Amino acid sequence: MRKIAVVNLKGGVGKTTTTVNLAFALALKDKRVLLVDLDPQANLTLMLCVSSQKTMYDLLVNEETHVSECIVNYKENIDVIPSKNLDKAELILAGLPGRETVLKRKFEPVFNYDFVLIDCPPSNTLLNYNALLYANEVFIPVSTDYLGITGLRKVVKLIDEINSLFKHPVNISAIIPTMFDQRSKISKESLDEIKKGFNGVVMNPVRVNAIVKDMAKQGKSILEIDKKSRAAKDYLKIADSIISTEFEFF
Ligand SMILES: Nc1ncnc2c1ncn2[C@@H]1O[C@H](COP(=O)(O)OP(=O)(O)OP(=O)(O)O)[C@@H](O)[C@H]1O
Ligand SMILES: [Mg+2]
Repeated sequence: MRKIAVVNLKGGVGKTTTTVNLAFALALKDKRVLLVDLDPQANLTLMLCVSSQKTMYDLLVNEETHVSECIVNYKENIDVIPSKNLDKAELILAGLPGRETVLKRKFEPVFNYDFVLIDCPPSNTLLNYNALLYANEVFIPVSTDYLGITGLRKVVKLIDEINSLFKHPVNISAIIPTMFDQRSKISKESLDEIKKGFNGVVMNPVRVNAIVKDMAKQGKSILEIDKKSRAAKDYLKIADSIISTEFEFF
């Protein structure tokens, strides 16, 4: 089972869009996916209109809550753990011993998936540490704009710190350039810069596409709205690359 945190400390770079659409692309390719919304903004939860009696809040805060109580089936091959009140959960967690590894401990019974994808908040917080200390892989969506590379360097630094402070090996296995505009010089320069520093794990870029804005409105992934759209094709291509990338430690 591949345990993946989708992380960038910068906001609005396409983390949630990428997490949701990759999950759908992987599910179409017969992979079983657990989608986890770890963002207090709950954008993934709102986008997919999912709800459950128990949420990430209960899982993180109540010792007696079992992860199976928080999982809802969304469609074939896709289950979701929704987010609710995670700001409050983070405050409560801050006072607990072992606060950085609560998610890891609570997810121990989770094994029945090919991929666990965690949509992380755009902040350097306890919630992100919990995701990174559970995950063995990180996907970093990076916007192909002027400041994208700066955001990328910050995440890489954070991951290095986690690796050395907690002795927890977590691998950057995919950097996903987002909102790529073929006609824009800045987009092209930004993509070149990303490739220069991180060649080997840089995925095919996701092109800018107005259909992405319809996701939240329709409560669907772009693969359901229009599988032939530019962004849908890009996410399907990335899913192929991800499936074909297997690391020795899995
Ligand atoms: N390929 C794309 N084409 C056009 N718009 C896009 C694309 N990808 C993402 N967007 C838009 O960019 C905005 C930010 O995307 P998203 O919410 O996925 O980012 P995020 O990194 O999860 O943000 P946050 O840090 O707030 O959680 C959204 O309005 C989304 O619709
Ligand atoms: Mg988001």
